Amino acid sequence: MNILQVLTTHNYLIQNNLHAGNRGTPREKRQRRTLIPMTDNFSNAQSSVDYIRAAGAVKPTIGIILGSGLGSFATQVQDALRIPYAEIPHFPRTTVEGHSGNLVLGTVAGVPVAVMQGRVHAYEGYPLSDVVFPTRVLGLLGCKTLIVTNAAGGINTGYRQGALVAISDHINLTGNNALLGPNEPRFSMAYGAGLRFFDMSAAYSPRLRALAFKEANRNNVPLAEGVYLAVLGPSYETPAEIHAFRTLGADLVGMSTVHEVIVARHMGLDVLGISIVTNMAAGVIASGQQSAEPIFHEDVMDVGRRAEKQFTALLTALMPRIAATQADLK
Ligand code: HPA
Repeated sequence: MNILQVLTTHNYLIQNNLHAGNRGTPREKRQRRTLIPMTDNFSNAQSSVDYIRAAGAVKPTIGIILGSGLGSFATQVQDALRIPYAEIPHFPRTTVEGHSGNLVLGTVAGVPVAVMQGRVHAYEGYPLSDVVFPTRVLGLLGCKTLIVTNAAGGINTGYRQGALVAISDHINLTGNNALLGPNEPRFSMAYGAGLRFFDMSAAYSPRLRALAFKEANRNNVPLAEGVYLAVLGPSYETPAEIHAFRTLGADLVGMSTVHEVIVARHMGLDVLGISIVTNMAAGVIASGQQSAEPIFHEDVMDVGRRAEKQFTALLTALMPRIAATQADLK
């Protein structure tokens, strides 16, 4: 077996650094070669899409990722086709309690949707390419809008447990980015998308956020607005960290969402983000309490479930409104 065969069996491709031109001795040219992984996320995502389409799914225009304890919105889906992640080629499988791991396709209020009942996180040990893989698939399936939802800790003292918050912006403190490596322009789903460097100044669509506030009002659902800061987890934060994050301008803290949003924006999808404040973040004293409380995952899940009714009402009301504006934009 020669070196090329060894490398290709181990899924690596030798790429010459072409920018150096043809200069140098043969030895120098050899040294300029780099190894890039041969796993092709685009082809993998495309084969997931082929599998989902072959299962007879509707063509969704809105993709929804449901966070911890928020999976029951999926029961709103009419004529639902429910596909466990484990059946979809290349799809990562969830390992966390409260994340069921099904892709549910059908309609909500007449709008074709794809709902991810649970997501995977970097803290489970998944590489970011897996964390964002389902987002890629939602885009390739035809979703123009991505709604990301999550359970988050409240840093803003004006929040209370169970509050719904529309995410206005994020701070990525995970120290990582899912787009590291060669740019993949084939993921572009809109004119001007798929670029190496791209704008993130309106990553969370102001238009969709305005719609969310309108529908929240109409349905008597209190909705706040805030900046989401992402950490890697899985440990919750220390009070000193939360203090620092507040100084940085964060209102919410969580362990998900930002990578999905970055990748969705790379593809050219519009994003709406909604958090449920399942607990006040470490060291934050909730109004009406004497002291800050320790944070337990079970409580986080419980509060998520209790806030779900309003959350579901808001999302359901939003579907036809978003679909109507998508039609306007065409
Ligand atoms: N910190 C980080 N992630 C979270 C929290 C928190 O307090 N609550 C829910 N997800």
